[in-house]
Amino acid sequence: MQSRLVYMDHGATTPVRPEVYDYMKPYFSELYGNPSSLHAFGRKVRQAVEEARKKTAAAIGANPEEIYFTAGGTESNNIALRGTARKRAKPGHVITSSIEHHAVLDVCHDLEKEGHRVTFLPVDRYGRIDPDAVKKAIEKDTFIISIMAANNEIGTLQPIREIGAIAREYGVLFHTDAVQVVGQLPLDVNTINADFLSLSAHKFNGPKGIGALFMKKGAKIDPLYRGGSQEGKIRPGTENVPGIIGLGKALEVAVSEISEKKSKIETLRDRLIEGLSALGDVVLNGHPVERLPGNVNVSFKYIEGESVLLSFDMEGIFASSGSACSSGSLEPSHVLSAIGLDHATAHGSVRFSLGFGNSEEDVDYVLEKAPPIVERLRSMSPTYHAR
Ligand SMILES: Cc1ncc(COP(=O)(O)O)c(C=O)c1O
Repeated sequence: MQSRLVYMDHGATTPVRPEVYDYMKPYFSELYGNPSSLHAFGRKVRQAVEEARKKTAAAIGANPEEIYFTAGGTESNNIALRGTARKRAKPGHVITSSIEHHAVLDVCHDLEKEGHRVTFLPVDRYGRIDPDAVKKAIEKDTFIISIMAANNEIGTLQPIREIGAIAREYGVLFHTDAVQVVGQLPLDVNTINADFLSLSAHKFNGPKGIGALFMKKGAKIDPLYRGGSQEGKIRPGTENVPGIIGLGKALEVAVSEISEKKSKIETLRDRLIEGLSALGDVVLNGHPVERLPGNVNVSFKYIEGESVLLSFDMEGIFASSGSACSSGSLEPSHVLSAIGLDHATAHGSVRFSLGFGNSEEDVDYVLEKAPPIVERLRSMSPTYHAR
């Protein structure tokens, strides 16, 4: 029997905090009015939705009119990129990075099929983009630069402030997929000069299937869906009211605790990195300092990350190999390939992502279980014996 359960997959998703859940509950079965209804019952719900919009805006330095609720990070990214592309009279040029989430990368590939040109910028061995390379990539018809605030697999933070300043200087729109950063680190749309920013509630202890797109006042897109006039027609359809209420509350709570949580989680992260590195032949992937507070991505050399994961799973420790979205494929993830990891090292990668609820005891439990697991798997590994 496992002695404890340790969830270290907060990069994939997080639990809804009890106070957020309690706050959402009435909006399922008591306050179920449609916010577009003109009667008092509808108006009451409208008021709550607008409160949530204010909280969301306040968390990122935006105005409430600049927040559009969506079905999550994927949809926000799609609306920003496809929406700006569709607004154009003729195809143009897009700049992004080679390590974006598929919700940006695959949209960019679609845009290429539609006649747009896309520059996928390379990253250094830590997964950082060089702002100078962004500047050099700008062409006459570049209409948008989309660079994530932090990478979901290796946790590397991007110099989005510098990139936002370049975009502004050249009059190019700037979108950032900030799904991994909002609620974890302070972020202000004004400081980074963002025109668009994507966020998702389930990454900061809010519900799944709800997110928001920040769209700066004056920015224009051609919406992807047609329907009612909800969310300024940017995202029509009856609102996911409990989700919106939960997003607003979760973000308010997350931001109020950000500095306390950041230092606590960073301490746990560094303790885990140190303990795992001491096992030997363990490589830290991502930037040593410029990384998400809760991200620990390491490669256990000579063994498969999947095997490590399954062994941890049997001990009640839940992590992921690379990113949850790309696991199940035999190809190393596009991110680990982009930072130059060879196949074998990339395959030995495991991501632990710490968050709300993790404790020192959890880290110690992982560090207690890791050595025998790694030793056993290496003892069966031909590459370990042949090294
Ligand atoms: C960086 C990044 N972008 C976008 C997404 C997609 O967000 P959602 O699950 O809300 O669609 C994720 C989720 O894993 C992510 O980590």
